[in-house]
Amino acid sequence: MGNLFINAVLLIILFLFLVTFQQFQSVCSHDDINISVYSSDAGCIVSERRALMKFKGSILVDHANRLSSWIGKDCCNWDGVACDNLTGHVVKLDLRNPIIPYYDHYHPPFNNNFDDYYNNSLVGEINPCICDLENLIYLDLSSNNFSGFQIPKCFGSLKNLRYLNLSVAGLEGEIPPHLGNLSKLEHLDICGYVYDGWNHYKYFLWSNNLEWVTRFSFLRSLDLSGNDLSGCVDWLDSVNMLPSLSSLKLRWCRLPDRNLFSHPLLPSHFNLTSLISLDLGMNYLKSPSLLNWFSNLTTINLQVLRLDDNKFNIPFPYTLQKFRSLTVIDISMNYFINSSWLLDSLCNHTSLVSVDLSSNELGGSLSVCLGNLTSLKVLNLHLTKLGGKVPSELGHLKQLTHLDLSSNSFNSSIPTSFGELSELEFLDLRGNQLTGEISELHLLKLKNLKYFYVSENQNLTVNICSQWIPPFQLRTIRMSSLNMGNQFPLWLQNQKELLALDMANANISADAFPEWLGTTFSRIQWLNLSMNSINGMLPSSMKALKSLAHLDLSVNKFNGTLPEWIGELSQLRELYVQSNNFQGMLPSSLTKLKDLEFLDLSKNQFNGTLPEGIGEELSQLVVLRLASNWFNGMLPSSFKKLKNLYHLDLSKNQFNGTLPEGIGEELSQLQYLRLASNWFNGMLPSSFKKLKNLYYLDLSENQLRGTIPEWIGEELSNLEELRFQSNHFYGNIPLQLCQLPNLGTLKLANNSLSGHIPNCFDH
Ligand SMILES: *[C@@H]1O[C@H](CO)[C@@H](O)[C@H](O)[C@H]1NC(C)=O
Ligand SMILES: *[C@@H]1O[C@H](CO)[C@@H](O)[C@H](O)[C@H]1NC(C)=O
Ligand SMILES: *[C@@H]1O[C@H](CO)[C@@H](O)[C@H](O)[C@H]1NC(C)=O
Ligand SMILES: *[C@@H]1O[C@H](CO)[C@@H](O)[C@H](O)[C@H]1NC(C)=O
Ligand SMILES: *[C@@H]1O[C@H](CO)[C@@H](O)[C@H](O)[C@H]1NC(C)=O
Ligand SMILES: *[C@@H]1O[C@H](CO)[C@@H](O)[C@H](O)[C@H]1NC(C)=O
Ligand SMILES: *[C@@H]1O[C@H](CO)[C@@H](O)[C@H](O)[C@H]1NC(C)=O
Ligand SMILES: *[C@@H]1O[C@H](CO)[C@@H](O)[C@H](O)[C@H]1NC(C)=O
Ligand SMILES: *[C@@H]1O[C@H](CO)[C@@H](O)[C@H](O)[C@H]1NC(C)=O
Ligand SMILES: *[C@@H]1O[C@H](CO)[C@@H](O)[C@H](O)[C@H]1NC(C)=O
Ligand SMILES: *[C@@H]1O[C@H](CO)[C@@H](O)[C@H](O)[C@H]1NC(C)=O
Ligand SMILES: *[C@@H]1O[C@H](CO)[C@@H](O)[C@H](O)[C@H]1NC(C)=O
Repeated sequence: MGNLFINAVLLIILFLFLVTFQQFQSVCSHDDINISVYSSDAGCIVSERRALMKFKGSILVDHANRLSSWIGKDCCNWDGVACDNLTGHVVKLDLRNPIIPYYDHYHPPFNNNFDDYYNNSLVGEINPCICDLENLIYLDLSSNNFSGFQIPKCFGSLKNLRYLNLSVAGLEGEIPPHLGNLSKLEHLDICGYVYDGWNHYKYFLWSNNLEWVTRFSFLRSLDLSGNDLSGCVDWLDSVNMLPSLSSLKLRWCRLPDRNLFSHPLLPSHFNLTSLISLDLGMNYLKSPSLLNWFSNLTTINLQVLRLDDNKFNIPFPYTLQKFRSLTVIDISMNYFINSSWLLDSLCNHTSLVSVDLSSNELGGSLSVCLGNLTSLKVLNLHLTKLGGKVPSELGHLKQLTHLDLSSNSFNSSIPTSFGELSELEFLDLRGNQLTGEISELHLLKLKNLKYFYVSENQNLTVNICSQWIPPFQLRTIRMSSLNMGNQFPLWLQNQKELLALDMANANISADAFPEWLGTTFSRIQWLNLSMNSINGMLPSSMKALKSLAHLDLSVNKFNGTLPEWIGELSQLRELYVQSNNFQGMLPSSLTKLKDLEFLDLSKNQFNGTLPEGIGEELSQLVVLRLASNWFNGMLPSSFKKLKNLYHLDLSKNQFNGTLPEGIGEELSQLQYLRLASNWFNGMLPSSFKKLKNLYYLDLSENQLRGTIPEWIGEELSNLEELRFQSNHFYGNIPLQLCQLPNLGTLKLANNSLSGHIPNCFDH
């Protein structure tokens, strides 16, 4: 009895302690602050300064020293802090990362400012002490890195907040519904995209219902993009309770669709009458009734409409007539069908700045009235089943910076009025049936052009005067699969900032490369001149192309040896010179190309043995093709170190000796192995049973002996094609071959095999 009583008392004490402790935690603890520094009454309000110092104390990394001004007593003068002139209270805390992450989609080697962005981001925890700043009206902690931490629940007590921005800050967990207490809030941004250096995103924050947003009666702008809202069946009902809302962004939120199975009833009343900007992109929505519900947007002053990357597969349902003020429309990457009228109806909206209808099945042709949209900067009609003529009126769109008509069926000539588009940076006309010529007239005033893409227009001829000095400095040129009029284009001579040049299959039959290629293109990273008829040896000036990562000269008529300076192109990752007339031994410098992943030397007249060190030095290789040359001798013992190889073709050479055991032991990634038409002899090494990823194995036309091993059928279960013909194999065909589920081709002819053909191969 006594014991129980004591236990109960202890429990109560523990309970009280926990409660007190929790309160102690939720308000801010100052015990470890060095008080003596702040003992003077001068400067800002002491308790607020302490709260800020606590906040700073929880920031672990500040590479850019953004908080270096946070010393001394007057915290109102610290960077990012602002106080009320009358009361002295801290009312604004703006610690947004000044660097906005940026990447350049049009630039083939990925270009970004992430280093700068990372260096400027504050890394650490949001110390809950900032909730002591009760007078805060404005709080911006965006684009920093509080990864691993949650949004402090006490933010719900900052009752005076009108502006709260926690976007792209790495915060995790549930968005606290306590934020609903911020009844004065006008702007809430918790966009959760995380830029991790590539285009991959991940969800960090989530909410299971949006009831809490309905309490923001003054909210004008709401951005919850990039958070997992898949549990919010009420999302539309909730945001529909915000009559002051002018901007709504719920992009990439896994928003639940409205259909019979989820939540069929749409709100009876459309309250979003203040909406100016709506973004529901990247949600894979497809319900036509949801789309129709928003058709009452036509009664308001909508300026921005983004519905891109959803799954709407109906004709575009809005007439747009009342969207008088529309400036941005993006409905790309849907399945909108039979909406050819849409482009015409846009003509009335002269305030349009950006139109992206790409990747839909619009159909029809371009109307001349588009020339009326003189404010237009972006017009993207990529892959929209458009055809017919490209109207010369597009040349009236003097503000255009971005014009994409690619992957359609336009079959006219390119209007010379394009030469007037002096703001144009990006022009993409690829994949059409354009005819006629591109001359310097089409590019006359394009002083800002950086990306010029006209590939895949078989009947288009580039005929630009070789003396012409263009007003632009291009970064990327794509002029493949068209007609270059036999010449290597000399007007490229002053394009010193070029990073990528694609002139494959362009009907160039020049005698050798111009010498200036090496000096002019000194920054180039990506060069494709394959499938032309270029003659002669590689000019030695090319060794200056030190940034080159991708070089494709295949299917031409280059001759001479592969030069020794090739080893100086130390950034090379892909080298394709197949189907030329190169001859002689491989340069010893080849093994200096440590980053090489793809190497194709097939169909030339290379001879000699492979370099001894090939395996050690070129260990990054994933594809190696040396077929149809005159290589001879045994495979170097280092060969087994090419551990990343998945594609190996040495066929049609003079290699001899036995097949190295090491291939089976070490090259376990191999999927494609072709050693046909050489002088390999001996037995099939038993280590080959370890090549479990092989789907193609061709050892035909060699001098191999022995029986066909049973383990082929038992171990190499991915085999689709097996070619052993014209060797000296003997004995039975093992029944186990019948176990290979995907085997489509089996060639064993011209050996000394005996016995029966297994029944499974009867048909
Ligand atoms: C308090 O800070 C001052 C100045 O940084 C330092 O000199 C002093 O030793 C500190 N006092 C304690 C008790 O840590
Ligand atoms: C407070 O004072 C600063 C500088 O004296 C001034 O720029 C600012 O406009 C004032 N703010 C208010 C709200 O009066
Ligand atoms: C970022 O910081 C690292 C390490 O402090 C430094 O090496 C690098 O140069 C910085 N980068 C930029 C863009 O400031
Ligand atoms: C954020 O910081 C963590 C370490 O605290 C790091 O692992 C992560 O890569 C950082 N993320 C970004 C986007 O800077
Ligand atoms: C908005 O519309 C709903 C019905 O769809 C209605 O119940 C609600 O009262 C309206 N809310 C506001 C704030 O107007
Ligand atoms: C949309 O507007 C039409 C006519 O303006 C009206 O009849 C209809 O009820 C409205 N729908 C909603 C959901 O508000
Ligand atoms: C353009 O606006 C005029 C006047 O408002 C209207 O008569 C016409 O039908 C509209 N054209 C299109 C294609 O929407
Ligand atoms: C639009 O363009 C058409 C054809 O180019 C022209 O006839 C019409 O007057 C223009 N409308 C406006 C409002 O500029
Ligand atoms: C190119 O022109 C020829 C002759 O005019 C025509 O037969 C062919 O279909 C055209 N090819 C393309 C891709 O437009
Ligand atoms: C390479 O080709 C050119 C042009 O066809 C020819 O003049 C030259 O002799 C050839 N050089 C070699 C080494 O075959
Ligand atoms: C390789 O080919 C070149 C020219 O075709 C010839 O001069 C040389 O003797 C050959 N070398 C070997 C090792 O066969
Ligand atoms: C392989 O071929 C070379 C010449 O191409 C010859 O010298 C060597 O003896 C051959 N080796 C074997 C094992 O057949």
